[in-house]
Amino acid sequence: MSIRQIGILNVSMGRDVTVVEPSNIYGCTLGDDVFIGPFVEIQKDVRVGKRTRVQSHSFICELVTIGEDCFIGHGVMFVNDTFSIGGPARGDRTQWRSTMIGSNVSIGSNATIMPVSICDNVVIGAGAVVVKDIVEPGVYAGNPAKFIRSHA
Ligand SMILES: CC(C)(COP(=O)(O)OP(=O)(O)OC[C@H]1O[C@@H](n2cnc3c(N)ncnc32)[C@H](O)[C@@H]1OP(=O)(O)O)[C@@H](O)C(=O)NCCC(=O)NCCS
Repeated sequence: MSIRQIGILNVSMGRDVTVVEPSNIYGCTLGDDVFIGPFVEIQKDVRVGKRTRVQSHSFICELVTIGEDCFIGHGVMFVNDTFSIGGPARGDRTQWRSTMIGSNVSIGSNATIMPVSICDNVVIGAGAVVVKDIVEPGVYAGNPAKFIRSHA
């Protein structure tokens, strides 16, 4: 039997970072004033920009970069393995794809973010599934996520 403990390991942290335990956070970089709620996993090489908040139960996998002043709601799931070979890549990182989230991006609870780029100043609705790059600021929702309106 092999039991591995969760923990906070090899994390590069800026000033005044808050992490609520239990969380499983390793090998990533968290900027100044980042807040990470409980039951969050953040994998290695992820970068989270200054003042971004990650709410409870979210999963941020390898190859994800998140900008500054973002809000990642509860239970937001990021994806790097799209099952492009007909199932999980089973550790073959050449099959993984990256995600780039700009700054001032708010992602509603329970959204799923496939490997895409999202520009600055975007709101993603609760439960959305984002499958394509978002290149214009605005509010997007649904599965697949579509533009619903520009900011007020
Ligand atoms: C996407 C969102 C920002 C839109 O808010 P809004 O601009 O006030 O939108 P409205 O409520 O006026 O709805 C506009 C349309 O979008 C639809 N819509 C709104 N939110 C939606 C969502 N999450 N998924 C799918 N459709 C949605 C509405 O049904 C409505 O459709 P209609 O025009 O056909 O009737 C908001 O609904 C949302 O999901 N916020 C996320 C909040 C959240 O998760 N917070 C986390 C912290 S608790």
